[in-house]
Amino acid sequence: MTTAPKATGARVDQFFAGVETRFDRWRSLLQAARAWEGAASQQRPENEKYQAVVSASVAELRQWEDFFAYPGQALLKTLDERIASGDAGGTARLVQSLSAALLTHSYRTNLADWEGEEQSRIGLAERVPGAGEETVPHRPYFEVLVVSPARPAAWSELGQELRKLRRPQDKFIYEPVFVGSFEDAVLATILNGSLEAVMIYEGIPFASPHHSPVLREVLASHLAASGIDANSGQYGLALAQGLKQLRPELDIYFLSDREVEKVAGDTSAACVRRVFYQVEEPLELHLSILDGIGDRYDTPYFDNLQKYAQRPMGTFHALPIARGKSIFKSNWIRDMGQFYGLNLFLAESSATTGGLDSLLEPTGNIKVAQEKAARAFGADHVFFVTNGTSTSNKMVEQALLAPGDIMLVDRNCHKSHHYGGVLAGAFPLYVEAYPLTQYSMYGAVPLRTIKKALLDLKTEGKLDRARLLVLTNCTFDGHIYNVGRVMEECLAIKPDLIFLWDEAWFGFARWSPFYRRRTAMGAAAILERKFKDPAYHQAYREQEKKLGSNPSDKVLLETRLLANPDKVRLRVYQTNSTHKSMSCLRQGSMVLVKDPDYHTVEEQFHEAVFTHASTSPNLQIIASLDIARRQMELEGYELVNRSIQLALDVRREVNSHPLVSKYFHVLGADEMIPAEFRTSGFIDYLTPGTNWAKAVEALREDEFALDVTRLTLVCGSAGFDGTQFKNVLAADYDIQLNKTSRNSVLLQTNINNTRSDIAQLIKVLVEISQGIEKKLADGGSAAQQAFTARVKSLMTDVPNLPNFTSFFSRFREDTSSITTEGDMRSAFFAAYREKQCEHINLFSPEVDKRLKEGPELVSANFVIPYPPGFPIMVPGQVIDAETIGFMRKLDVKEIHGYSATLGLKLLNPAFLKSEKPPSSGFANAPKTAKRKSAAAD
Ligand SMILES: Cc1ncc(COP(=O)(O)O)c(C=O)c1O
Repeated sequence: MTTAPKATGARVDQFFAGVETRFDRWRSLLQAARAWEGAASQQRPENEKYQAVVSASVAELRQWEDFFAYPGQALLKTLDERIASGDAGGTARLVQSLSAALLTHSYRTNLADWEGEEQSRIGLAERVPGAGEETVPHRPYFEVLVVSPARPAAWSELGQELRKLRRPQDKFIYEPVFVGSFEDAVLATILNGSLEAVMIYEGIPFASPHHSPVLREVLASHLAASGIDANSGQYGLALAQGLKQLRPELDIYFLSDREVEKVAGDTSAACVRRVFYQVEEPLELHLSILDGIGDRYDTPYFDNLQKYAQRPMGTFHALPIARGKSIFKSNWIRDMGQFYGLNLFLAESSATTGGLDSLLEPTGNIKVAQEKAARAFGADHVFFVTNGTSTSNKMVEQALLAPGDIMLVDRNCHKSHHYGGVLAGAFPLYVEAYPLTQYSMYGAVPLRTIKKALLDLKTEGKLDRARLLVLTNCTFDGHIYNVGRVMEECLAIKPDLIFLWDEAWFGFARWSPFYRRRTAMGAAAILERKFKDPAYHQAYREQEKKLGSNPSDKVLLETRLLANPDKVRLRVYQTNSTHKSMSCLRQGSMVLVKDPDYHTVEEQFHEAVFTHASTSPNLQIIASLDIARRQMELEGYELVNRSIQLALDVRREVNSHPLVSKYFHVLGADEMIPAEFRTSGFIDYLTPGTNWAKAVEALREDEFALDVTRLTLVCGSAGFDGTQFKNVLAADYDIQLNKTSRNSVLLQTNINNTRSDIAQLIKVLVEISQGIEKKLADGGSAAQQAFTARVKSLMTDVPNLPNFTSFFSRFREDTSSITTEGDMRSAFFAAYREKQCEHINLFSPEVDKRLKEGPELVSANFVIPYPPGFPIMVPGQVIDAETIGFMRKLDVKEIHGYSATLGLKLLNPAFLKSEKPPSSGFANAPKTAKRKSAAAD
């Protein structure tokens, strides 16, 4: 006998599980309905038991279904009626049909899905988007949230009214979703990723009938902080603002029967796209909704490129593959054309006219595409870059830094920044991230370290030369900064410091309400509001009074500093590898600018673009940047949510699987971030008792947070080093991943992953674990011992990560300075003269002798082992015993800048002792002001 499934206690405000929980509920309902159908022939009491389970399962599902247009109240009513009438077969068929439509999203295009069970005859393959040829052009589907004070009984009629406005020429099609309260509007906005627009009527009640205690707790504190009275009944505009904070891309329409002119003139209505007088102009409203979506859907560059490709075109410029004739007519390379398809070649050109624009001097559709991207990312300006973020970083650094400027930079950052510093002639002042020695990787740079570096520069009289702070957010391994706090406290010490946040991996975070506040643009928007707030001005004055006129560095380090809002210049730059986290072709990258003083650097910014950008940018990459923006503005929220959910699934499954967890483990926030940086007490997303409200608090307060989509899987405990495990996954299981450490590999989920991918990964880990078990069981104690020794060597005998030492005296302005910035460019170019260099074998006794007795070993170039991927030596750096020890222990094959045959490349002592030419790197450095006497510390 089939056992009847039980209803669970899942709640609608358990957002980390939101969408998947809904689908899981549908699957459980289907199981229950089938069980009932199978038991239909049984005696009454038994049959009724099954019927009751189905009823309970539907009742539980209903808390979600109120927030989605499909299946909608009419079909759910039919379902209720079938259950009530005891029609087990009809119930199972209807549930089957509805859940298939939901799972495949076929209801978005298939009108018959809205009719109910008839569609159960359609096979799954026909429902899969893209599986069949589309006979009619695809009309994208979305949902519109209607927040209405009308009685729920009237909703269906109102919905019909809206549907009547549809016209055949509409480019998009939408369905309304009705809710009747403030809280339900928030729930719907969070849960329903298909929502693209919201209509808010005035006069809605506050409380939701749904049981959502966590949401209530968060909303209560949010409203109290915003000074909104939940009993006032006048919070339509507050709702609009709140929804925009959750999902800035949504179009919000406000319908009022008050004096609409006044509402429209209210400054808090800036987030509303249009205000309507309630009963007027339903067609205008309909057209506005479509127009809003059209604005996001438009991809000016891609649209023009498609048009260009369709035009007959004679090409007399230098790009033989354009139009594809040399390929499709070729005797030998026709397969290239077959593989890539004609459109790729029709859409190739080196022209910048004829409907195309110039990436280097955009005045047409690239300019508009960049403006749209700026709106989407919350920036003032966006620049598309077709050579990856490696280039974006160098562009920004060259634009903002002149020779002799000091650039504070995480030594563990991407190599493009180090090269950017060399090219600009800036002096890097390396700030160290905290080490995660056990996993041979770094975390992120503590704020205290950064503040200390700035205060030291102040002591040395060099603060005016500190122009740029460069940090990686999030790091390769997923450490996210408290971006707002870092900028606020640094600006308190130097009000015009510029920030470059390298968000190569984190571009997607804009579309997560959890992460947005920790992105460069999200944090800048919050700070901008803060600096305008009179309460902040007051708090600043109080802090200033409390600190007195000459606070010691110790006090400044220990105080959570507020910046002087009258003095600060909030100058924020962000670079992101759009190709790493969005649907963009490889090398597509963006530079985002939010800088009130941008006009002062605009010219040099263009120079930097001209220096680094190819004059033959790839048109397909530009188009895909445009398309990636469109996708994120329309479905980024849903996709990013899903990738977070999938990452949480992997974490939970690996760490709780009885067999897999014996050998593998995904590191939680507590293992990646020391407790001192988690002052909210947050442990991990999956710790029992943790809910999203706690995660929100941690994201607001803690110094560092972990991006859950970056999963450090420890494999050393299974006897694999990172590279070895990466190769096993690639060779034996066709699973690709990117970064490794001595004893871990980094897995990532992104908007491309599905639950099937996750299932595949878990299955593979189970198989590998079974293999280890078998090997150990078959190999007896010898195998056991070898395994234990291997695990110990990987997990315990880990080398210490070497810190940056200092630049050799020749490359320092003042060797007595407590700050360690140096003229790396001079050192870099010194190595261009062979006679100024020497090579020494890493393992030769000469190295040990020189370490003990000198002359000092000074690196001639960058030495970057992969993994971990950060430079353990930079040009001009003095090499110490720790660095040599680390190098000698490294067992990785790829070490950029080091040849095992030739040995370490050093600047030779003769050169280092020789007199400095007058044109050394210091020539352009502004003279350092007189050194301040060491601060009372
Ligand atoms: C932090 C960081 N910044 C920049 C880059 C370079 O980006 P791209 O590959 O787009 O050139 C990378 C590449 O891995 C990176 O990890």
